[in-house]
Amino acid sequence: MMSNTAEDMERLMARAEELRVPGPFLFGAATAAYQIEGAPKADGKGESIWDRFSHTPGVISDASTGDVACDHYHRWPEDIRLMRELGLGAYRFSLAWSRIQPGGTGKANATGLDFYKRLIDGLAEAGIRPFLTLYHWDLPQALQDKGGWYNRDTAYRFADYADLVSNALSDRVQNWTTLNEPWTFCWSGYATGEDAPGLKDGAKGGLAASHHALLAHGLAVPAIRGNVGNADVGIVLDLNTVTAASDKAADQAAAKHFEDAQNRWFLDAVFKGHYPQSMLDLCRDLLPDIRSDDNTIIAAPLDYLGVNIYRRSIMAGGTELPPLNFARVNPPGRYSAVNYEVWPPSIEDVLLYVHEHYAPKAIYISENGFATRPEPVTPDGAIHDVERAEYHIDHLDHMARAMRRGVPVKGYFAWTLMDNFEWAYGYSTPFGLAHVDFVTQERRIKFSGEIYATIARGNADG
Ligand code: NOJ
Repeated sequence: MMSNTAEDMERLMARAEELRVPGPFLFGAATAAYQIEGAPKADGKGESIWDRFSHTPGVISDASTGDVACDHYHRWPEDIRLMRELGLGAYRFSLAWSRIQPGGTGKANATGLDFYKRLIDGLAEAGIRPFLTLYHWDLPQALQDKGGWYNRDTAYRFADYADLVSNALSDRVQNWTTLNEPWTFCWSGYATGEDAPGLKDGAKGGLAASHHALLAHGLAVPAIRGNVGNADVGIVLDLNTVTAASDKAADQAAAKHFEDAQNRWFLDAVFKGHYPQSMLDLCRDLLPDIRSDDNTIIAAPLDYLGVNIYRRSIMAGGTELPPLNFARVNPPGRYSAVNYEVWPPSIEDVLLYVHEHYAPKAIYISENGFATRPEPVTPDGAIHDVERAEYHIDHLDHMARAMRRGVPVKGYFAWTLMDNFEWAYGYSTPFGLAHVDFVTQERRIKFSGEIYATIARGNADG
């Protein structure tokens, strides 16, 4: 008799073969510089806030760092081969700002830039479209020393960096993302301190960082367009649909606070040109200096919105981040290793929500994926990550339903290409379609990777 795993694998492969997404559609995978590259000092790279933070005792759960990570800085040709085996049509990655401007300002470090030129040329040869993210959390430490995202000036430094990079790569890259998940890097970095730079300044820190990051985004958009004739420019936001745990007034208010802070603060600013009045009222005494032209700058027209979605959010009254009083409720169900509830309709709901309220011209699912504990490799070298395979299939199914209801989704990027440094969790909660042995650096495509390749190939003609 077949084991449950073998039966599950057979059932999931049959679903993958049948799964159809309305086309044309891009199947990709995503990564971020600090999570995969390693080589923190190579070729003149400067220190970033994640280089500094990960070396701070007690902040990373397995006491690891990104010093080596997947050694992608040296192994990128092999990683492009991996992408080909996975049938990817696109690859979303980020640039380490401190490779390009080691101190966060001034002229380009040509050798740092050359690394990305080689990578992008390699992708082109493999027929894989690059989706470049300018900022995925690794601010040059030199800018942090001047206040980081607390400091309005960082927005202007980011615009210079965006100008420099888009000028240098204008002939190679069409798809540009300014920021990845400002909600997370601003609030976890400046309000709760779980992520770099580790400041625990509550809502005051989160709000200041968010405003300056959004200003940075708005200033970068015209800089990119000025350099890249046919640029597609967007921002990646981490969004959730939010519900209240009950009808109680405190739970209803908590859900509203959370939705306003995580979703609407960013979506309203970018697509409507103003922050939600409810947030401005609630946080009146904590706001940074918001100048009269800022709203217009932040609302620079975009070609797409990238949505990172992992779960739904159920909120109850609580004491987190006053005056935003909310606490997450985790209903009974299945959970990933980072304690995210598995709830596949969340992707459909969030797409409908964004389409209905903001109607971006195009949407990419810029991240979606599932964390496990480090996974055993079978004696014949396989990784039977059935849960992750099912997660991707179920979410793709729900995404396709939203598309059939009119949401213009153009692509899906699995998080992530290969196991890597998961921020404060270190290497303890891998999300990869490919397994990485962090001793030998050997990559192995997991069962979920085979499933993903099957879906990508089955939908290749749109
Ligand atoms: C969002 C972030 O963009 C990415 O860096 C992170 O690894 C994944 N979510 C998983 O937590």
